Amino acid sequence: MKMKKEIKRIALLTGGGDCSGLNAVIRAVVKSAILKYNYEVIGFMGGYHGLYMNDYIKLDLKNVAGIFHQGGTILKMSNKDNLFNFKTVDDKGKVVYKDVSDVAIENLKKLNIDALIIIGGDGTLTSARDFARKGVNVVGIPKTIDNDVPATEITFGYRTALDHIMLSLDALHTTAYSHDRVMILEVMGRNAGWLALEGGIAGSADVILIPEIPYDINSVAKTVFDRYNRGSKFTIICVSEGAKPVDGDVTIKAIDKDSPDSIKLGGVGDILAAKLEKVIKPVTGQDIRVTTLGYIQRGGVTNTFDRVLGTKYGAYSVDMIARNEFGRMVIIQNDRMDSVRIEEVVGSGKTGQTSSGGARIVNPHGDLVNAARDIGITFGD
Ligand code: F6P
Repeated sequence: MKMKKEIKRIALLTGGGDCSGLNAVIRAVVKSAILKYNYEVIGFMGGYHGLYMNDYIKLDLKNVAGIFHQGGTILKMSNKDNLFNFKTVDDKGKVVYKDVSDVAIENLKKLNIDALIIIGGDGTLTSARDFARKGVNVVGIPKTIDNDVPATEITFGYRTALDHIMLSLDALHTTAYSHDRVMILEVMGRNAGWLALEGGIAGSADVILIPEIPYDINSVAKTVFDRYNRGSKFTIICVSEGAKPVDGDVTIKAIDKDSPDSIKLGGVGDILAAKLEKVIKPVTGQDIRVTTLGYIQRGGVTNTFDRVLGTKYGAYSVDMIARNEFGRMVIIQNDRMDSVRIEEVVGSGKTGQTSSGGARIVNPHGDLVNAARDIGITFGD
């Protein structure tokens, strides 16, 4: 029987793109590690880059005081440094990709780190899996505003992002009404429509376009016409960055080869506006304006829900370390904390697929979509 490892010193890092609630997790890890288990804690700076460069800070009760409500991460983060395929430049100035993971493992040994908590999205957790395969005692915590991580029903950052979307739609209503305009709000979410769907319902959007339900421009126009004919001379459309037309594909803003999520979505709002204008302008004369909410969704003051959720994720990850449950990721199912093997949930970044079936996307026939349809919201189908 394997002996239980005695834990004295743990480390954590945040990787990928930021979201609200990360500092709540860091605070919970540090408080729980120190107060409940008497562990020492260090935090690597800038995600995997800090692990590679041995750039870390000691974390104690003082330096996590006052961070609970703040968006972002005091440890900083990056979505570029994959230590298993790390970008370096050789003597001749040529870019060479190398596996530098052993340098990171050596750093962990030198610092006497007994376990490492890795907070991140699909790309970051894929490396977490690879470190676990090489014998590092890893615990993963999923993070994303997109809420698309398989096996867990909710990720921190999502609800705060929804608040931003709801408030933006509220603000767009008054200006849309004043000018009899069609207002399009483009929101994030990659290939999952959760943000547009729940944010759109909360912000009283008239049309919600999500990746899971391809849209027909004439159907979108019909909602605008129907509303106009009923006397509602403005229409609010909430479109997910991953939405696509029935006869087309997603709108790609850029390709970033250094990022594990190399395809950067964006621009669907403008494409939609151009197409819609051709159909509606000659009939109603309405102007269309586009707002891209962008990175505001990832920042600001962390809301009540995400502060509590981040605390639950953080505290549970330290309990997992104490129980020696390594190579696993914290999840929530039916509002209960649990864990799954990281192997089962990673790998959805490029393909949307994981060994357990793929990113968690919206069910086009589920309760949420049905409730929205019941109150007259249309999906462009
Ligand atoms: O996955 C979170 C997310 O904010 C997506 O909603 C968005 O498509 C992407 O990250 C943007 O990534 P980046 O920070 O690399 O621009």
